[in-house]
Amino acid sequence: MNQELDNMVASVREQLLKQFASAEDKTTVLRSNELRTLYARIAQLPNDQRAPFGNAVNKLKAELSDLIRQHNEQESALPAIDVSAPFALNSDKAHRPKLLSADLGSVHPLSEEISKICDIFYGMGFSMVESREIDDDWHMFGSLNFPEGHPARDDYDTFMTKQLDKDNKPLIAPAHTSSMQHRVLLKNKHLLDKGQPIATIIPGRTFRNEDVDPRHEHTFNQIEGIYVNSQVNIGNLIATLKTFLESYFNSSNIEVKTQPFYFPFTEPSLEFSLSCPFCNKQGCSVCSQSGWIELLGCGMIHPQVLRAAKIDPIKFQGFAWGVGVERLVMMKYGIEDIRHFESGKLSFLRQFSAGGYL
Ligand code: DAH
Repeated sequence: MNQELDNMVASVREQLLKQFASAEDKTTVLRSNELRTLYARIAQLPNDQRAPFGNAVNKLKAELSDLIRQHNEQESALPAIDVSAPFALNSDKAHRPKLLSADLGSVHPLSEEISKICDIFYGMGFSMVESREIDDDWHMFGSLNFPEGHPARDDYDTFMTKQLDKDNKPLIAPAHTSSMQHRVLLKNKHLLDKGQPIATIIPGRTFRNEDVDPRHEHTFNQIEGIYVNSQVNIGNLIATLKTFLESYFNSSNIEVKTQPFYFPFTEPSLEFSLSCPFCNKQGCSVCSQSGWIELLGCGMIHPQVLRAAKIDPIKFQGFAWGVGVERLVMMKYGIEDIRHFESGKLSFLRQFSAGGYL
């Protein structure tokens, strides 16, 4: 091969190696104009020069293909991952995907509001215990005076597992935080004998087989409250809830209204409404023009519920309530659709981040 052809291949090689080093897509060198020009030249050469020149061009192409193959192998040969190890141990810095730093996140609005609600009750002397996300028939129904086969059980649209508990009944994703009442009574009844009340709130996630719409979610949060002492009456219940609501809505002129209702675990049972904190009973979109908002269920704890925990209902009485957290928060901030909470939409969540971020 003559010098001129030799130089030509050498200079194209140099250019393509440079291109290879900087290209995002390494295979572009194989489709490059420079390489194509070399191949086109083969046909124009006299017979005796074709073979050596063709060999040199093929050699260059093979060299480039090799480089590409090596590069691809390096890319795919990531180290094995120990899925149980902390993230930082599994990947070196160069291969670590970019993550948002933790200080760009914020507490979910429901968690934020649940702690505000708990704080208000702590101030009134309540302690707190969290609910659980799987429970049994006895705690969901039996201990709360729902007899076997009672139609009130159907009001709770419960999700059940195929797995059975020790009584051969399906386990249950609790449909209300009341399923913690029996445990709280059992654990704290020794206080009553010392002359101290049982005063506990129970925040927790609850589940129902609901048709989901702007007002109903299959997964939602409740806060249960339970208070037992001697000489407790329904006036104590109403005053406690009114005090809470005035504090939560930061309003001193909230009026409350009760209507008779039915729950197997309270007697009497009440549905508790408050005057709309947005329109002062004038009627607005939040209260569907009625001036009142039905908020929660409550009542005096049924003697059977106390007896199930071996508390004497002659000596001690109590009240309890269960309030939906989403409902409270929706009212407080004028949120129109309950599904926003579980949606994971940043545009929704960012509105509640106190510090402002991202
Ligand atoms: N558990 C009821 C529900 O989810 C609400 C409720 C009503 C709770 C009365 C109570 C109560 O503690 O006393 O519908």
